[in-house]
Amino acid sequence: MIFGTQLDGIALVVGSGRGIGQQCAFSLAKAGVKAVVLADRKGETAKALAEESKTYATHKEYQATTFKINVVDEKSVEDMVEFAVKEFGKIDYCVNAAGPGLIRFASTDIENYDLIMTINAKGMLLGVRAELQAMQKQPPKTFTSRNGTRVR
Ligand SMILES: NC(=O)c1ccc[n+]([C@@H]2O[C@H](COP(=O)([O-])OP(=O)(O)OC[C@H]3O[C@@H](n4cnc5c(N)ncnc54)[C@H](O)[C@@H]3O)[C@@H](O)[C@H]2O)c1
Repeated sequence: MIFGTQLDGIALVVGSGRGIGQQCAFSLAKAGVKAVVLADRKGETAKALAEESKTYATHKEYQATTFKINVVDEKSVEDMVEFAVKEFGKIDYCVNAAGPGLIRFASTDIENYDLIMTINAKGMLLGVRAELQAMQKQPPKTFTSRNGTRVR
């Protein structure tokens, strides 16, 4: 997140249980979004982080909720997007940061490689595809920053 950026709207963060996703969820809360959906394979972890995100939030009506998801399961991904839209009416920002964890290249085998590719590549395609399909149904959003105004 660019320091000093002021956002509003609704964010969906996939892979929010740790690492990049977790920090993005906190940064989005701090940047002013009205709500964050924290989605992760580890539903209980996401719930705890949703509570923690409230301590960083700057929007006075901030809400955080969670969704237990498996990014490689098409139905699970579609359910997640449907849940976010049902809960908050739209999705303005998405982070797709689910990952297989630390990869030890020297000792990894082909099964592990396949798992990594399934999460990182297939999971990314399923996520971005479902998110875009939902976002394309929404009215465009205007965003103004020190670089001017953009309509997306
Ligand atoms: N950390 C880095 O320096 C770095 C650099 C470049 C790219 N990346 C990529 O960014 C992504 C995130 O990296 P990270 O370091 O934050 O990873 P991380 O391991 O710290 O966190 C990944 C999160 O994804 C979740 N997850 C794993 N499998 C899932 C699944 N099937 N469905 C839903 N959630 C699942 C985990 O529970 C975890 O919360 C990875 O794809 C990684 O390859 C990371």
